[in-house]
Amino acid sequence: MRPYVIDPMIPEGAIAERVAGLAAEINQAFADTEKLVVVGLLRGSFIFIADLVRKLTVPVEIDFLEVSSYGDATTSSREVRVLKDLRGEIAGRDVLVVEDIIDTGHTLAAVTRLLRTRAPARLEVCALLDKPSRRETAVQARWVGFEIPDAFVVGYGIDYAQRDRNLPHIGAVRFTDDASGDKFGGASA
Ligand code: IMP
Ligand code: MG
Repeated sequence: MRPYVIDPMIPEGAIAERVAGLAAEINQAFADTEKLVVVGLLRGSFIFIADLVRKLTVPVEIDFLEVSSYGDATTSSREVRVLKDLRGEIAGRDVLVVEDIIDTGHTLAAVTRLLRTRAPARLEVCALLDKPSRRETAVQARWVGFEIPDAFVVGYGIDYAQRDRNLPHIGAVRFTDDASGDKFGGASA
């Protein structure tokens, strides 16, 4: 593995403050819900969803979906493969998809397309991080925690090759063996 360091980007306290703010808006938007199905996209959203739901006051149910990109990852028609499907039904119900980070937007576009085929009453998305400069699709989250520049980030559930998910803050990966200025060293999302 190439050597790297993690430059701090978003401190733990700032994340907690923003999560509480997002939850307040979600509580308001879904104030009249019978029960909100909060769908976490595995694995990157596991810490975010755990913190977020503890700030929700509307009745909630928690479910998880795990997908992986497949096929030609460079084409814009990129689809996803369902690795772990929801346990519950969402037809006629209020659904909040919780994602760690929106990059090109292909994952979220495919996930919302899939979930809409199941006819939820309402379907909204809350993403902790958004890299708008990387977007390749028209997909948008109703709630975004932080817009960030085009950097490869880790921490607070988000990984680099399955590492650093346990970091309590969010930081940017910087390779230390690289003098060329290629800040991502060919790492991809
Ligand atoms: P998208 O389909 O390009 O929007 O990619 C979204 C997924 O790629 C996210 O859910 C993450 O799992 C992963 N990803 C995108 N950017 C990063 C990053 O900076 N660090 C770690 N994972 C990332
Ligand atoms: Mg992900």
